[in-house]
Amino acid sequence: MNQQTNPDREARNILIANDRGGYTIPTEGLYPYQWNWDSAIAALGFAEFDNDRAWTELETLFSGQWSDGMVPHILFHKSDPGYFPGPDVWGCNGPIPSSGIIQPPIAATMARRIWEKDRTVGEARVRALFPAMLAWHRWVMKWRLDDRGAVCTTHPWETGRDNAPDWDNTMARIDASDVGEYQRRDTSHVNSEDRPTKFDYDRYIKLVQIGRQSNWDQQTLLSANPFRVADPTMSFTSLRAARDLLALSAALGIEADGLEDDIARLEAGALSLWNDDLGSFDSRDAHSGEWSESVSNASYMCWFAGIDSEKMLDRLRHTLDTVPYPIPSYDPDMPKFDARRYWRGPTWAIINMMVGIGLNDMGHTKEAEQLRAKTGDLISAYGFAEYFDPTTGSPAGGNAFTWTAAVWLHWAGRN
Ligand code: GLC
Repeated sequence: MNQQTNPDREARNILIANDRGGYTIPTEGLYPYQWNWDSAIAALGFAEFDNDRAWTELETLFSGQWSDGMVPHILFHKSDPGYFPGPDVWGCNGPIPSSGIIQPPIAATMARRIWEKDRTVGEARVRALFPAMLAWHRWVMKWRLDDRGAVCTTHPWETGRDNAPDWDNTMARIDASDVGEYQRRDTSHVNSEDRPTKFDYDRYIKLVQIGRQSNWDQQTLLSANPFRVADPTMSFTSLRAARDLLALSAALGIEADGLEDDIARLEAGALSLWNDDLGSFDSRDAHSGEWSESVSNASYMCWFAGIDSEKMLDRLRHTLDTVPYPIPSYDPDMPKFDARRYWRGPTWAIINMMVGIGLNDMGHTKEAEQLRAKTGDLISAYGFAEYFDPTTGSPAGGNAFTWTAAVWLHWAGRN
């Protein structure tokens, strides 16, 4: 146990220490660049004590936007040999060296929250960013939807839940025998038992190679990429982003055609991820139509997207009552549950926050408060770790982690 004496100060210090000048790294060593959804969460954390710096974070993220609207999952501002795969492996041509995939598009949602916190500082900034945020939303609508309107991930890293059991069946069908030699860097920073396996890593790299061979051309990748899975993280965050963009456009009087139609399409898509036999929102292979049969923490993000579900609420209540440190990234009653291995069991504060925000928005204030308090207790007892063992609370992965600090400042620590 690493009881925090002054967690507010500690959290602010983590953000400040991880600031590399206009952008924030997730943690020193393991993740030395600007990650897309981490950065949106970092901005939310900064907004609690430095609203101007919060906007700068988002502006730096969008400075890496490609001309077609795509906003990459990593921006390699300054080269760092401690991370693999770096810019030379991705081979992308954006305005800033970057990866060729996205991450869950939460920037517009966080921008709205930051603007609501201080409209005087935020007015000009949010106006200036709006076209870029809308262009990214349109890119997602154009390239990531399946035929039912659910949003797909085209690489496990794209969804932000790298090694979730959701991808196992699809990954098992990928031939990575010709991936070649490469050297992982992640396992030299943290315990390999906490990280994805070599089997998964070979396929992560193989998918990067396929993207590169296709020159990251999305039309080509629609047929060349064997990995395309409709997933709750992408679907719920994209739907939420569309709603927030619509709210911003109305409040600021900015034209943004088509958002209502997009919302209807995304809503139908998100609802199509309900797996009735499983009794949960689930992922679905977009090529084969097969369900993943996975109850993950992303399944609970329905409320964040403005979708209510009595069955998910029952599940959540059960989880809050039975799991010491909820929400586990994979259901502990399922055979693949692994309390320490990354997205196959551990609890992640950022997902908890998004679930909590959604619950609160939809009037489930009791559950929202329970989840917030439990997340707050977890962080104040065990520190600002990347993620936590849901059975013991023990911290895992990297430490002094930006998004855990930001979640503390914006949500978990605010009782
Ligand atoms: C891992 C996580 C991903 C996160 C990144 C940086 O890849 O799975 O969600 O964005 O680390 O923290």
